[in-house]
Parts: sequence; structure tokens; C-alpha cells
Amino acid sequence: MTAAAIDARGLGKDFGAIRALDQLDLEVREGEFFGLLGPNGAGKTTTVHLFATLLAPSRGTARVAGYDVVREGLSVRRSIGLVFQDTTLDRDLTITENLRFAARLWSLPERVARPRIDVLLRQFELLERRDDPVRTLSGGMRRAVDIARGILHQPRILFLDEPTAGLDPRARRSLWERIRALRAGSGLTVLLTTHYVEEAEPCDRVAVLDRGRLAALGTPAELKQAAGVRSLEEVFLAHTGHPLAETDGG
Ligand SMILES: Nc1ncnc2c1ncn2[C@@H]1O[C@H](COP(=O)(O)OP(=O)(O)O)[C@@H](O)[C@H]1O
Ligand SMILES: [Mg+2]
Repeated sequence: MTAAAIDARGLGKDFGAIRALDQLDLEVREGEFFGLLGPNGAGKTTTVHLFATLLAPSRGTARVAGYDVVREGLSVRRSIGLVFQDTTLDRDLTITENLRFAARLWSLPERVARPRIDVLLRQFELLERRDDPVRTLSGGMRRAVDIARGILHQPRILFLDEPTAGLDPRARRSLWERIRALRAGSGLTVLLTTHYVEEAEPCDRVAVLDRGRLAALGTPAELKQAAGVRSLEEVFLAHTGHPLAETDGG
């Protein structure tokens, strides 16, 4: 029996009087490409941070890679990669320097890190720019470096929080292909958050999150069929009573 990659039961988080996440029940399967779709303020980042042990839950439990996020935080952190909503690279260091620094943080020996970095840079088509400072890169390239760093230690689960926010459509599509290629045959579980319906479309399953609550869950096809609509945009509207875009930007 394979354990779920993520198993949340009644998981919730309050910030003072703000209920960022109410009571989430969610299972993400191993190897799944899972999308968390919702407008700004829906609780997507909060959910990812709870799974990544950056926040302590106010209620409920979650197991990630089989480990309890509260009692076995270190094991969770060793099993996951996390790409934050905003880039966390050092802009003055080169791509290679950023990645080698990350490798040292993970205590990866040089002989392991070096070839791994080469493979990732080739995969992300960044070889020619490897000795350029990150500040000279396009937004799409920076995101690619963020992701390369996120998987350097070969995690079982990768969290991508709004990976394409702020990128133009072309950069978005290219990043998308990279993520797809990365997953192909690797068994990597990917949980991504997004407020773009077109990004949730290729996911194996999608959870629709609205105001801290799970509004719907299923494959994109199931969700559309159950709501009797043709797009995930309409699925969102059918479950929440308001359009995805309207609450955007808040
Ligand atoms: N550290 C915090 N302190 C207070 N409120 C927060 C904090 N983080 C998030 N929130 C609030 O929790 C809600 C969910 O936020 P967030 O998880 O960032 O949503 P999303 O990522 O979907 O945009 C929002 O109302 C947000 O203002
Ligand atoms: Mg967010």
C-alpha cells in the first residue's frame, strides 16, 4: 500500500480573528500533479506553509510524506521542496553560486551536487547563463532557478506557490513545459497553487479553495461534469457564487 503524499484532517489556521484556513480534509496521492485553485486571500499560501512546517496549525493534523507536520517536522522538511511565491534567490550571486550554496545547506557533497546542478541547468536550458548574476535574468529564468534549487536535494514532494505569478504568457507556458518534463517518469508529487484556471487544467486533480474552505475537489473533467459547465472558471462560480477574477488582487 502506498501512503498518501499528503493527508490533511480538519487542518486549520487562524491569524488572530482571521480564519485563513477553516478545516481542510485533503489527500494528495503519491506522484500526483495536484492543483490548489483559488483567488487571492483564499488560503493557498497558508495551506502550503502548514504542509511545509513553516506555520503551526491552529487545529487538525497533517501528514506529509508520511510524517506528522507538528511532531516530525525535520523529516517533513527533508522530504519536500518548496518554491515560495516570491523569489528567494540572492540577486548578486550567479545561478551556479545560488545552487551551490543551496547544496551546502542540504549538506550535499561536492561530487553529488556538481553533476546534479549540471543536469538541472541543462534541463532548464540555463547552462549558458550559469555564471551570470541572478539579477540579469528574466523573470521566467529566475523562476526556473528557484525550481531547480527546490529540487536539488531530490525531494519526494514539491510545493510550488503561484509559480508563474508575474510572468508573461510566453514565460508562463515555457515554465509550464519545464514542470511537466520534470514530473515525467520521476514519481515526484507536485502541489501547485494558482489563481489561473488554465494552470489548474493540466492537473490530475484540483481542489477549489475559497475563503479558507474547500469548495470542490476532483479531476478537472469531473468538476466540470458535476457542475454541468465547460470551464473551471464556471466550476468556481458554481461552487462559490462569485467569479474567480472578481476577488483577485485583494
Ligand atoms: N501572517 C499573517 N497574518 C495575518 N493574516 C494573514 C497572514 N497570512 C495570511 N493572512 C490572511 O489569511 C488569509 C489567507 O491568506 P493566504 O494564505 O496568503 O491566501 P492566498 O495565498 O490564497 O492568497 C488572507 O485573509 C490573509 O490576509
Ligand atoms: Mg498566496
